[in-house]
Amino acid sequence: MTLRVAILSRGPRLYSTRRLVEEANALGCSVDVLDPMKLSLTIGNEGRRILNEGWNVEVDAILPRIGYSITRHGVAIVRQFERMGIYAANSSSGIHQSRDKLHATQILSSNHIPVPTTAYVRDWRDVERAIRQVGGVPCVIKAAEGTQGSGVFLAHTEREASELAWELLEKGIQVLVQEYIQESHGRDIRVLVVGGEVVAAMRRKAHGREFRSNFHLGGSVEGIDLPEDFARIARKAARLLDLDIAGVDLLESNRGPLLLEVNSSPGLEGIEKATGVNVAGHIVNHIIDAHAFTNVDLNQLLTTKEGNGTLSLKIRRYPELVGKRLGDLIVYDDDATIVAVSRAGAHVWQPDDNLILREADELIFYGILDILQQRIRPLIQRTIDARNSSPPEPYPWNIEVAEDPAAWAISDQNVSWRNRRR
Ligand SMILES: Nc1ncnc2c1ncn2[C@@H]1O[C@H](COP(=O)(O)OP(=O)(O)O)[C@@H](O)[C@H]1O
Ligand SMILES: [Mg+2]
Repeated sequence: MTLRVAILSRGPRLYSTRRLVEEANALGCSVDVLDPMKLSLTIGNEGRRILNEGWNVEVDAILPRIGYSITRHGVAIVRQFERMGIYAANSSSGIHQSRDKLHATQILSSNHIPVPTTAYVRDWRDVERAIRQVGGVPCVIKAAEGTQGSGVFLAHTEREASELAWELLEKGIQVLVQEYIQESHGRDIRVLVVGGEVVAAMRRKAHGREFRSNFHLGGSVEGIDLPEDFARIARKAARLLDLDIAGVDLLESNRGPLLLEVNSSPGLEGIEKATGVNVAGHIVNHIIDAHAFTNVDLNQLLTTKEGNGTLSLKIRRYPELVGKRLGDLIVYDDDATIVAVSRAGAHVWQPDDNLILREADELIFYGILDILQQRIRPLIQRTIDARNSSPPEPYPWNIEVAEDPAAWAISDQNVSWRNRRR
C-alpha cells in the first residue's frame, strides 16, 4: 500500500519543500503539499476531521513545516492530526516548545544541557542587572521568538543593550539578555537530528563582521565531522523537546559545546549543499519507519485514570534523607510506586531498594495521588521535625554531585510501569 504523506507548508516552491516532495516520490509515497492556513478542523465526539477546500484530508503521516508567523494555528492543526491517530513528524508539543527560546532553554538547562547564561527581562530597567548576571557587556539581546537571526543583536554597551531591550518590549516582544560567547563570534554548528540520530552537521560562518552565522544572512557553510560530545547534546536536545526532526544550533565555547536553539523546521538547502548528505531522504525514510506509531502525551496518559498521577520529590529540599536507603523510605506497591530516580541528568528506572539517596536526586512517584501523599507526608514531616529539634549539623556537601554519571547503572530505555511487589 502506498504511504500517503502530507507536507504542511506555505511554500511549495521553497528548496526544502521541493526536496521533500522529490524524495517522498522517489521512495514510493504519494505526497501532497497542503497550506496549513487553509485547513479547517472539526472537533467533537461524532468524529474529528480536517478539511482542505471542503474535502476531508485523508493521509497516513504529516510532515509539518510550520513557519514562525503561523505557529499557533499550525500547532493546532498538527495536534488535530495527532488526535486522529496520524503520525506527525514533528509533534505539536515539540513544535510549540522549541519555538519559544525561553521555554526551550528552561527545559534543556533543567535537564543538564549546557546553555549560555540567559536572563529574561520584563522591563528595560532590569536590563542592567540582567547584564551583570550574564557576565557584562558585550551581551546578546534576543527576541524570545524569531528566526534567521532577525531578532538577535549584539550590544556593546549597557546603554545600547537597554535601548534594544526597550524597543523590543515596546512592541510587546519578550526579551532575553544572553551571555555573549566571544570565542564563537560569527560561527556556530548546525546539527540535523532525524529519528534520534545525527544525519549531518555543518559549521556556519558569518559574512564579514556580522556576528550571526545564519545561512539566510549570507553566511557560508562547510560540512564537519561532529565530535561526540556535540552529537550527544544534539540528540538529547531533540529528544527532550520531543522532535523527530530537529536542526540543533550549538556554539563552540571555551567551556565546551553550548546549546543555542533547536529548530523544528530546519532549512535543508545549506546543510545538503555543505555536506552532500541526502537529508530529505533521511527524513522521508524516518516517516516510512515511524508512521505506524502515533505520538503519545505520556503525562496526559498517566493522569487519565481518576485520582492517579505523578509526583516528584527533590532530596535537596530534605537533606536529612541523604545517605538513606531507598527501600527504607516508603512502602511501595501497586497503588504507589517509585518509577525512577533522576540523578545527574539521567534516570535510574525502577530503582533498587538498596539505592542510597544523594543530595541532587529527585524521586519520581506514580500511583493514586492520595495514597502517595499519605505515605510521603510523614516522611517529610519527620525530617522537618528532626531539623527543628536539633541544631543544624554541618552538611556533608562534598559527598554529592560532580560524579561521573556513567558510573551508575542507568538505562534510558526500558521504561516499564510494571510495579515491583515486595
Ligand atoms: N550568545 C551568543 N553568543 C555568540 N553568538 C551568538 C549568541 N547568540 C546567537 N549568536 C549568533 O547569532 C545567530 C542567531 O542566533 P539564534 O539564537 O540562533 O537566533 P535565530 O533563531 O534567529 O537563528 C547564531 O547562529 C549565532 O551565530
Ligand atoms: Mg538559529
